[in-house]
Amino acid sequence: MTWNKVCRTEDIAIGAMKAFCIGEVNFIIINGAAGFVAIPPSCPHMDNALIDGFFDGETLTCDKHLWQWSIPSCEPLGDSECRLSNYETEIRNNDIWINLNKNILYNHEE
Ligand code: FES
Repeated sequence: MTWNKVCRTEDIAIGAMKAFCIGEVNFIIINGAAGFVAIPPSCPHMDNALIDGFFDGETLTCDKHLWQWSIPSCEPLGDSECRLSNYETEIRNNDIWINLNKNILYNHEE
């Protein structure tokens, strides 16, 4: 499984997050003010659902211990101890495509 069409760009408003599953791969697409990013559904710290976190259009915050990341770069902010992993994405004719050549999984602490 490699490149897959996910949805139209207008299906995810700026500042919004949406969860998807293609095959057996779960992921979240975030529409940041500076672009889209596709990430695994769980926090890299512990197995907490990032879809339940807070996103202000630029910063994603996990609601469990408040680790934060800049979106779409996925670089850590504040107390976050690592970068978010992300899937490769492309916009083709206003469709969002994702490269699922690997299922990104974190080694959680719990
Ligand atoms: S589980 Fe997300 S910050 Fe700890």
